[in-house]
Amino acid sequence: MKFLLTTVCVAWILISSAQCASNAWCYHLPACNEAVWSAIVPQYCDGTRQSPIDIVPSDAKPDPELTQFTFHNFDSKSALESMENTGQTVKVRFGSGVEISGGGLSEPYDSLQFHLHWGNGTSHPGSEHTVDGKRYPMELHIVSSKSSYNGNITQTIADPTGLSALGFFIEEMSNDEIAEPESWKMLTSYLGSILYKDDSVLMEPGISLDDLLDGVDRTKYYRYLGSLTTPDCNEAVVWTVFKEPIKVSKDLIDLFSTTVHISDSSSPFMINNYRNIQPMQPVMTN
Ligand SMILES: *[C@@H]1O[C@H](CO)[C@@H](O)[C@H](O)[C@H]1NC(C)=O
Ligand SMILES: *[C@@H]1O[C@H](CO)[C@@H](O)[C@H](O)[C@H]1NC(C)=O
Ligand SMILES: [Zn+2]
Repeated sequence: MKFLLTTVCVAWILISSAQCASNAWCYHLPACNEAVWSAIVPQYCDGTRQSPIDIVPSDAKPDPELTQFTFHNFDSKSALESMENTGQTVKVRFGSGVEISGGGLSEPYDSLQFHLHWGNGTSHPGSEHTVDGKRYPMELHIVSSKSSYNGNITQTIADPTGLSALGFFIEEMSNDEIAEPESWKMLTSYLGSILYKDDSVLMEPGISLDDLLDGVDRTKYYRYLGSLTTPDCNEAVVWTVFKEPIKVSKDLIDLFSTTVHISDSSSPFMINNYRNIQPMQPVMTN
Protein backbone atom coordinates (compact mmCIF):
# COMPACT_ATOMS: atom_id res chain seq x y z
CA MET A 1 0.00 0.00 0.00
CA LYS A 2 2.81 2.39 0.85
CA PHE A 3 4.25 1.57 -2.55
CA LEU A 4 1.01 2.57 -4.21
CA LEU A 5 0.59 5.69 -2.11
CA THR A 6 4.04 7.12 -2.78
CA THR A 7 3.77 6.31 -6.46
CA VAL A 8 0.47 8.04 -6.90
CA CYS A 9 1.61 10.84 -4.63
CA VAL A 10 4.69 11.80 -6.61
CA ALA A 11 3.03 11.36 -9.96
CA TRP A 12 0.40 13.71 -8.62
CA ILE A 13 3.06 16.29 -7.74
CA LEU A 14 4.54 15.94 -11.18
CA ILE A 15 1.31 16.65 -12.93
CA SER A 16 -0.68 18.80 -10.52
CA SER A 17 0.17 21.17 -7.70
CA ALA A 18 -0.70 19.01 -4.71
CA GLN A 19 1.95 18.36 -2.09
CA CYS A 20 2.56 15.07 -0.34
CA ALA A 21 3.76 15.43 3.24
CA SER A 22 4.13 11.67 3.61
CA ASN A 23 6.75 11.52 0.89
CA ALA A 24 9.57 13.47 2.55
CA TRP A 25 12.63 13.84 0.40
CA CYS A 26 14.99 16.76 -0.04
CA TYR A 27 18.31 17.92 -1.44
CA HIS A 28 19.90 19.59 1.56
CA LEU A 29 19.69 17.33 4.65
CA PRO A 30 21.43 13.98 5.22
CA ALA A 31 18.16 12.59 6.59
CA CYS A 32 16.30 13.07 3.29
CA ASN A 33 18.83 13.87 0.54
CA GLU A 34 19.62 11.67 -2.46
CA ALA A 35 21.85 9.35 -0.44
CA VAL A 36 18.66 7.97 1.16
CA TRP A 37 16.22 8.21 -1.76
CA SER A 38 16.79 4.55 -2.59
CA ALA A 39 15.82 3.72 1.00
CA ILE A 40 12.69 5.90 0.74
CA VAL A 41 11.63 4.46 -2.63
CA PRO A 42 13.62 1.25 -3.17
CA GLN A 43 11.28 0.06 -5.92
CA TYR A 44 12.52 2.76 -8.31
CA CYS A 45 15.33 5.01 -7.00
CA ASP A 46 17.54 1.93 -6.74
CA GLY A 47 16.60 0.78 -10.25
CA THR A 48 18.67 0.02 -13.33
CA ARG A 49 17.82 2.93 -15.69
CA GLN A 50 18.10 5.92 -13.42
CA SER A 51 18.62 9.55 -14.42
CA PRO A 52 20.53 11.80 -14.76
CA ILE A 53 23.63 10.40 -16.47
CA ASP A 54 26.91 11.69 -17.81
CA ILE A 55 26.65 11.86 -21.60
CA VAL A 56 29.82 10.91 -23.46
CA PRO A 57 29.36 12.26 -27.01
CA SER A 58 32.01 9.98 -28.50
CA ASP A 59 30.05 6.94 -27.22
CA ALA A 60 26.63 8.09 -28.54
CA LYS A 61 25.40 5.86 -31.38
CA PRO A 62 23.90 7.57 -34.44
CA ASP A 63 20.22 6.61 -34.88
CA PRO A 64 18.43 7.59 -38.11
CA GLU A 65 15.05 7.22 -36.39
CA LEU A 66 15.76 10.30 -34.29
CA THR A 67 13.98 12.69 -36.60
CA GLN A 68 13.03 16.30 -36.00
CA PHE A 69 10.42 17.24 -33.44
CA THR A 70 7.29 19.19 -34.10
CA PHE A 71 6.60 21.60 -31.23
CA HIS A 72 2.93 22.53 -31.06
CA ASN A 73 2.06 25.85 -29.40
CA PHE A 74 5.63 26.47 -28.32
CA ASP A 75 5.10 29.84 -30.02
CA SER A 76 2.04 30.68 -27.92
CA LYS A 77 2.60 33.74 -25.73
CA SER A 78 -0.18 32.67 -23.39
CA ALA A 79 0.69 28.98 -22.86
CA LEU A 80 2.65 29.59 -19.65
CA GLU A 81 -0.10 29.87 -17.08
CA SER A 82 1.42 29.87 -13.62
CA MET A 83 4.69 29.63 -11.70
CA GLU A 84 4.98 27.76 -8.43
CA ASN A 85 7.53 27.22 -5.65
CA THR A 86 7.17 23.49 -4.88
CA GLY A 87 9.80 23.56 -2.13
CA GLN A 88 12.11 21.59 -4.42
CA THR A 89 12.00 23.52 -7.68
CA VAL A 90 10.39 26.37 -9.57
CA LYS A 91 7.70 24.94 -11.82
CA VAL A 92 5.82 26.61 -14.68
CA ARG A 93 2.53 25.01 -15.63
CA PHE A 94 1.19 25.08 -19.22
CA GLY A 95 -2.34 25.53 -20.48
CA SER A 96 -3.74 22.73 -22.65
CA GLY A 97 -2.71 22.43 -26.27
CA VAL A 98 1.06 22.39 -25.81
CA GLU A 99 2.32 19.20 -27.41
CA ILE A 100 5.35 17.55 -28.94
CA SER A 101 5.56 14.89 -31.65
CA GLY A 102 8.19 13.40 -33.94
CA GLY A 103 11.69 13.21 -32.49
CA GLY A 104 11.59 9.42 -32.63
CA LEU A 105 8.66 9.34 -30.17
CA SER A 106 6.02 6.68 -30.77
CA GLU A 107 3.10 9.14 -30.57
CA PRO A 108 2.30 12.75 -29.59
CA TYR A 109 2.92 13.75 -25.96
CA ASP A 110 1.02 16.49 -24.08
CA SER A 111 3.42 18.98 -22.52
CA LEU A 112 2.42 19.79 -18.94
CA GLN A 113 5.09 21.84 -17.24
CA PHE A 114 8.71 22.85 -17.10
CA HIS A 115 10.86 23.18 -14.02
CA LEU A 116 14.50 23.96 -13.35
CA HIS A 117 17.52 22.57 -11.56
CA TRP A 118 20.43 24.73 -10.41
CA GLY A 119 23.44 24.91 -8.15
CA ASN A 120 24.50 27.91 -6.11
CA GLY A 121 24.91 30.71 -8.63
CA THR A 122 27.13 30.48 -11.67
CA SER A 123 30.12 29.69 -9.43
CA HIS A 124 28.62 26.34 -8.39
CA PRO A 125 26.90 24.73 -11.41
CA GLY A 126 23.81 22.54 -10.94
CA SER A 127 22.62 20.93 -14.16
CA GLU A 128 21.52 17.30 -13.73
CA HIS A 129 22.99 15.77 -16.87
CA THR A 130 26.63 16.37 -17.58
CA VAL A 131 28.52 16.10 -20.89
CA ASP A 132 31.98 14.52 -20.70
CA GLY A 133 31.81 15.37 -17.02
CA LYS A 134 30.98 19.05 -17.60
CA ARG A 135 28.17 20.37 -15.42
CA TYR A 136 26.30 23.45 -16.67
CA PRO A 137 24.97 26.18 -14.34
CA MET A 138 21.31 25.12 -14.75
CA GLU A 139 19.03 22.68 -16.59
CA LEU A 140 15.44 23.14 -17.76
CA HIS A 141 13.10 20.14 -18.05
CA ILE A 142 9.93 20.15 -20.12
CA VAL A 143 7.73 17.25 -18.95
CA SER A 144 5.15 15.69 -21.30
CA SER A 145 2.96 12.60 -21.07
CA LYS A 146 1.65 10.25 -23.75
CA SER A 147 -1.48 11.78 -25.23
CA SER A 148 -3.29 8.46 -25.61
CA TYR A 149 -3.51 8.02 -21.82
CA ASN A 150 -5.47 11.27 -21.51
CA GLY A 151 -3.70 12.20 -18.30
CA ASN A 152 -4.24 8.82 -16.57
CA ILE A 153 -1.23 8.86 -14.23
CA THR A 154 -1.41 5.17 -13.35
CA GLN A 155 -1.15 4.16 -16.99
CA THR A 156 1.47 6.81 -17.77
CA ILE A 157 3.99 5.77 -15.13
CA ALA A 158 3.39 2.06 -15.72
CA ASP A 159 4.64 2.56 -19.31
CA PRO A 160 8.46 2.61 -19.73
CA THR A 161 7.97 5.39 -22.28
CA GLY A 162 4.91 7.04 -20.68
CA LEU A 163 6.68 10.33 -20.05
CA SER A 164 8.96 12.47 -22.20
CA ALA A 165 11.46 14.89 -20.71
CA LEU A 166 13.22 17.49 -22.83
CA GLY A 167 16.40 18.65 -21.13
CA PHE A 168 18.02 21.98 -21.98
CA PHE A 169 21.31 23.10 -20.47
CA ILE A 170 21.58 26.72 -19.40
CA GLU A 171 24.95 28.37 -19.82
CA GLU A 172 26.21 31.77 -18.75
CA MET A 173 26.54 34.29 -21.56
CA SER A 174 30.14 34.81 -22.55
CA ASN A 175 30.29 38.60 -22.18
CA ASP A 176 29.07 40.81 -19.37
CA GLU A 177 25.50 41.18 -20.53
CA ILE A 178 22.97 42.10 -17.86
CA ALA A 179 19.37 40.88 -17.70
CA GLU A 180 19.51 39.04 -21.03
CA PRO A 181 17.66 37.64 -22.85
CA GLU A 182 14.44 39.59 -22.40
CA SER A 183 12.37 36.36 -22.13
CA TRP A 184 14.43 35.19 -19.13
CA LYS A 185 14.26 38.66 -17.60
CA MET A 186 10.46 38.38 -17.77
CA LEU A 187 10.46 34.81 -16.48
CA THR A 188 12.68 35.58 -13.49
CA SER A 189 10.60 38.67 -12.67
CA TYR A 190 8.03 36.25 -11.22
CA LEU A 191 10.46 34.71 -8.71
CA GLY A 192 9.79 37.52 -6.24
CA SER A 193 6.14 36.41 -6.12
CA ILE A 194 6.93 32.80 -5.12
CA LEU A 195 9.44 33.25 -2.32
CA TYR A 196 8.09 30.43 -0.15
CA LYS A 197 6.97 26.84 -0.57
CA ASP A 198 3.51 26.44 -2.15
CA ASP A 199 3.46 30.07 -3.32
CA SER A 200 2.20 30.37 -6.88
CA VAL A 201 1.52 33.23 -9.24
CA LEU A 202 -0.49 33.52 -12.44
CA MET A 203 1.65 34.55 -15.40
CA GLU A 204 0.61 37.29 -17.79
CA PRO A 205 0.66 36.44 -21.51
CA GLY A 206 3.97 37.63 -22.94
CA ILE A 207 6.61 34.92 -23.22
CA SER A 208 6.48 31.69 -25.19
CA LEU A 209 8.51 28.50 -24.88
CA ASP A 210 10.16 29.41 -28.20
CA ASP A 211 11.26 32.70 -26.61
CA LEU A 212 12.84 30.89 -23.66
CA LEU A 213 14.56 28.33 -25.92
CA ASP A 214 15.77 30.95 -28.39
CA GLY A 215 19.13 30.24 -29.97
CA VAL A 216 19.06 26.47 -29.40
CA ASP A 217 19.18 24.25 -32.49
CA ARG A 218 16.42 21.82 -31.55
CA THR A 219 17.34 19.35 -34.29
CA LYS A 220 20.47 18.21 -32.41
CA TYR A 221 19.95 16.02 -29.40
CA TYR A 222 20.83 12.91 -27.38
CA ARG A 223 18.31 10.21 -26.54
CA TYR A 224 18.21 7.56 -23.82
CA LEU A 225 15.67 5.75 -21.66
CA GLY A 226 15.78 6.76 -17.99
CA SER A 227 13.79 7.89 -15.02
CA LEU A 228 12.41 10.83 -13.11
CA THR A 229 15.33 12.48 -11.31
CA THR A 230 13.27 12.99 -8.15
CA PRO A 231 11.45 10.41 -6.02
CA ASP A 232 9.70 8.20 -6.92
CA CYS A 233 12.38 7.98 -9.66
CA ASN A 234 9.90 6.10 -11.88
CA GLU A 235 11.60 4.47 -14.87
CA ALA A 236 9.06 5.80 -17.33
CA VAL A 237 10.95 8.58 -19.09
CA VAL A 238 12.17 8.97 -22.67
CA TRP A 239 14.96 11.49 -22.24
CA THR A 240 15.93 14.01 -24.91
CA VAL A 241 18.90 16.18 -23.99
CA PHE A 242 19.63 18.97 -26.46
CA LYS A 243 23.25 19.57 -27.38
CA GLU A 244 23.20 23.35 -27.49
CA PRO A 245 22.61 25.31 -24.28
CA ILE A 246 20.29 28.24 -23.69
CA LYS A 247 22.39 31.32 -22.97
CA VAL A 248 21.35 33.46 -20.01
CA SER A 249 23.22 36.28 -18.29
CA LYS A 250 24.91 35.58 -14.97
CA ASP A 251 22.77 37.99 -12.95
CA LEU A 252 19.57 36.17 -13.98
CA ILE A 253 21.06 32.73 -13.27
CA ASP A 254 22.15 33.95 -9.83
CA LEU A 255 18.56 35.05 -9.04
CA PHE A 256 17.41 31.45 -8.67
CA SER A 257 19.83 30.66 -5.82
CA THR A 258 19.28 33.99 -4.05
CA THR A 259 15.50 34.51 -4.21
CA VAL A 260 13.32 31.46 -3.53
CA HIS A 261 13.32 29.54 -0.24
CA ILE A 262 12.67 25.83 0.33
CA SER A 263 10.00 26.55 2.93
CA ASP A 264 9.10 29.70 4.91
CA SER A 265 11.13 32.87 5.44
CA SER A 266 13.33 31.25 8.08
CA SER A 267 14.33 28.39 5.72
CA PRO A 268 17.41 28.33 3.46
CA PHE A 269 17.47 29.50 -0.14
CA MET A 270 16.68 26.80 -2.68
CA ILE A 271 20.12 25.77 -3.96
CA ASN A 272 21.78 22.65 -5.40
CA ASN A 273 18.46 21.05 -6.35
CA TYR A 274 19.98 18.49 -8.66
CA ARG A 275 20.55 14.75 -8.40
CA ASN A 276 24.02 13.37 -8.98
CA ILE A 277 25.04 11.21 -11.92
CA GLN A 278 23.66 7.66 -12.07
CA PRO A 279 25.19 4.60 -13.83
CA MET A 280 25.52 5.11 -17.58
CA GLN A 281 22.89 4.04 -20.13
CA PRO A 282 23.19 3.54 -23.89
CA VAL A 283 22.87 6.95 -25.53
CA MET A 284 21.74 7.59 -29.10
CA THR A 285 22.16 10.73 -31.16
CA ASN A 286 20.85 12.03 -34.46
C1 LIG B 1 26.05 29.61 -1.74
O1 LIG B 1 26.67 30.78 -2.21
C2 LIG B 1 26.61 31.86 -1.28
C3 LIG B 1 27.15 33.09 -2.00
O2 LIG B 1 28.35 32.82 -2.63
C4 LIG B 1 27.41 31.49 -0.05
O3 LIG B 1 27.36 32.55 0.91
C5 LIG B 1 26.81 30.23 0.56
O4 LIG B 1 27.57 29.81 1.67
C6 LIG B 1 26.74 29.13 -0.47
N1 LIG B 1 25.99 28.02 0.10
C7 LIG B 1 26.44 26.76 0.08
C8 LIG B 1 25.61 25.75 0.77
O5 LIG B 1 27.46 26.45 -0.49
C1 LIG C 1 -6.56 4.83 -15.22
O1 LIG C 1 -6.30 3.60 -15.82
C2 LIG C 1 -6.43 2.49 -14.95
C3 LIG C 1 -5.90 1.25 -15.66
O2 LIG C 1 -6.47 1.12 -16.95
C4 LIG C 1 -7.87 2.39 -14.52
O3 LIG C 1 -8.04 1.29 -13.65
C5 LIG C 1 -8.25 3.68 -13.80
O4 LIG C 1 -9.61 3.66 -13.47
C6 LIG C 1 -7.95 4.88 -14.66
N1 LIG C 1 -8.11 6.07 -13.86
C7 LIG C 1 -8.88 7.07 -14.23
C8 LIG C 1 -8.92 8.23 -13.30
O5 LIG C 1 -9.51 7.06 -15.27
ZN1 LIG D 1 13.78 17.84 -13.58
